[in-house]
Amino acid sequence: MTGIIDVSQLVKTYGDGTKAVKGISFSVPEGEFFGFLGPNGAGKSTTIKILTTLLRKTSGSASVAGLDVESDAAKIRKIIGVQNQDTTVDEDLTGRENMLLQGELQQMHGQALRDRVDELLKVVDLVDAADKRAGFYSGGMKKRLDLATTLVHNPKILFLDEPTTGLDPQSRASIWAYLKQLNEQGITIFITTQYLEEVDRLCRRLAIVDLGEIVAQGTPSELKQEIGADSISLGLESSTMNTGGTREKAKQVLETKFDQISDIVNSDIGLTVYAKNGSFLVPEIVRAFDEAGIKLSSITVSSPTLDDVFLKHTGKRIRVEEVTSANYRSMFSRRRR
Ligand SMILES: Nc1ncnc2c1ncn2[C@@H]1O[C@H](COP(=O)(O)OP(=O)(O)OP(=O)(O)O)[C@@H](O)[C@H]1O
Ligand SMILES: [Mg+2]
Repeated sequence: MTGIIDVSQLVKTYGDGTKAVKGISFSVPEGEFFGFLGPNGAGKSTTIKILTTLLRKTSGSASVAGLDVESDAAKIRKIIGVQNQDTTVDEDLTGRENMLLQGELQQMHGQALRDRVDELLKVVDLVDAADKRAGFYSGGMKKRLDLATTLVHNPKILFLDEPTTGLDPQSRASIWAYLKQLNEQGITIFITTQYLEEVDRLCRRLAIVDLGEIVAQGTPSELKQEIGADSISLGLESSTMNTGGTREKAKQVLETKFDQISDIVNSDIGLTVYAKNGSFLVPEIVRAFDEAGIKLSSITVSSPTLDDVFLKHTGKRIRVEEVTSANYRSMFSRRRR
């Protein structure tokens, strides 16, 4: 393999016997915007920690920019930027000091470092708070500071573990826009996230992991095409849907008249039908229902989304965590570097 990130037969078994990663292999070419998705506990953070030299693997191999994660760990750390899922900012320092410290640890100095810090403070919208202690920042501000700190030394490869979880939609959008810009400048991005719409728009390729194994890999459009069908949602008149037998009658009509339909399932509002080229079928369904005296209250066609892809491969819907004040506190709990 010749990617900028190469992983082969990677295994991680924790001390308590938990098999978090069970022999995964993948390769990420230089300049890729790569999404690494999966349900809770799938092994995403474990993989990222191994790739960023924070955790030792059990077996298999992993390299970053041609450097081995174990024998060349120090060299890898110089060229990567890492944002962990748990935010790591020093709360006794100001936002600016956090970033300056990170730059100095990476051998940056003087005006160049100060300019870089000013530039990034603007990107993450922390200019006004830059000289306040990070301990007084809100969770979202800490998360943004953490991302900025990750970027100070102009890393070539970024590993981001849920960088926008817990942020308001506006900060989320501006951070994804900035990541897009960085990627366009040639920076490789390896990201885990729960936001599939952003993945769909921005990731060139993605892998889905579940229970420590890769269950799907490809571009968003390849993976969506694999689903093979559009979904057509049919709303039926609720008063007669169940008791009046409308739903059964509608099913019969669909089954007898349309052999291009691959599946029919009950939905809250009536039926959902899966078929190739769903939009072509709509007028025909309307006509057939009309002839059979079945009243439709609504009809909508949607192409498969990454949500459908995720559901197909993991059996679960991805859950965007609602941020309550309790898990906000634990998500951004105090931690020192
Ligand atoms: N230090 C540890 N010791 C033992 N088991 C662990 C440890 N860290 C993680 N695990 C377990 O390994 C598995 C994978 O965890 P990991 O954090 O990699 O998942 P994840 O995909 O990042 O999940 P999430 O979406 O919740 O962040 C889980 O079963 C988890 O409980
Ligand atoms: Mg994780």
